[in-house]
Amino acid sequence: MTEAILLVGGKGSRLRPLTVHTPKPMVPAAGVPFLTHQLARAKAAGVEHIVLATSYLAEVFEPYFGDGSALGLHLEYVTEEEPLGTGGAIRNVASRLHSGPEDPVLIFNGDILTGLDIAALVSTHQSSGADVSLHLTRVEDPRAFGLVPTDATGRVTAFLEKPQTPEEIVTDQINAGAYVFRRSVIDTIPAGRPVSVERETFPGLLSSGAHLQGMVDSTYWLDLGTPQAFVRGSADLVLGRAPSPAVPGRCGDRLVLPSATVAADAKLTGGTVIGSNAVIAEGARIDGSAVLEGAIVEEGAVISASLIGAGARVGARTVLSGVVIGDGAVVGEDNELREGARVWCDAVLPASSVRFSSDQ
Ligand code: GTP
Repeated sequence: MTEAILLVGGKGSRLRPLTVHTPKPMVPAAGVPFLTHQLARAKAAGVEHIVLATSYLAEVFEPYFGDGSALGLHLEYVTEEEPLGTGGAIRNVASRLHSGPEDPVLIFNGDILTGLDIAALVSTHQSSGADVSLHLTRVEDPRAFGLVPTDATGRVTAFLEKPQTPEEIVTDQINAGAYVFRRSVIDTIPAGRPVSVERETFPGLLSSGAHLQGMVDSTYWLDLGTPQAFVRGSADLVLGRAPSPAVPGRCGDRLVLPSATVAADAKLTGGTVIGSNAVIAEGARIDGSAVLEGAIVEEGAVISASLIGAGARVGARTVLSGVVIGDGAVVGEDNELREGARVWCDAVLPASSVRFSSDQ
């Protein structure tokens, strides 16, 4: 049975303030910590042993997931003393693997939501005889990504980081953050210092003549690194557009966890999730958003494509569109916050203090 390493030690800086108290993989998406979806999908693909490579806020993972038996998995946790980067993190957990030198080991970034056929990636790896195989996905605008061109047989020909000029954009295939390594290749990554698998290990392997195989799988794929993407991913899980066996309820327009209170005339649409013990008052309208545990949304608030942190409060008639409200923050009534605004944890915004329009 294939075993896996999950990289969950990043600082998640682009997702702040949601990642001030919570590491990115533990931020809830569709009602459960995002990592639950990845673990459940790996389990469904036949993976049984998973090593979590932790660093930032490492102490919160094990109390929640324990030994993994509730998910039918055997989980282990390894914490870096200093962050070792993606490649260093992989090397640092090698001693926990049970695989033999020739066996395939799966590696997942902890912030990717995808319908990838995991078993197909492993079988591509084995039939091609590659040293490392990578899941590739196609994107319309590859400028923010690492490009991975391949030849007619799928063999990787180059790694091109964040291309800028049109000439540099030689393919629309990008590194999608899931790999299969031959176990012995993991042991060649230098130990005890930071290593980037994307910038150092992959280019180094390629120039030393190793066989890196790409597998393009164009099913659902989203990097949840930014607030905008995270809220989209959560909504897609609720709507059933992104596949996960771990959504705690039936997929549809909304997901309300059992201990939440929602007024009868509140309108929840577009894959909105209401977390446990949250309260949604009369006349509130919430579309494509995530309201985390214990948050309060008062009468007539209008919220779209936003994340409302745990225990935060959104005042009456306040309008939020494309914003993040940190844990415990209070946005008073009659405010209007739009695209990209981030209200820090525990901040207090008085009533009627910010608007984007001249109306009251
Ligand atoms: P940003 O700070 O917003 O860029 O996010 P990030 O810290 O998560 O970085 P990035 O998205 O590049 O990381 C990709 C994956 O690798 C994520 O799943 C991270 O948790 C993980 N990761 C990044 N750096 C480290 C590290 O030093 N140690 C470990 N164990 N994991 C890491």
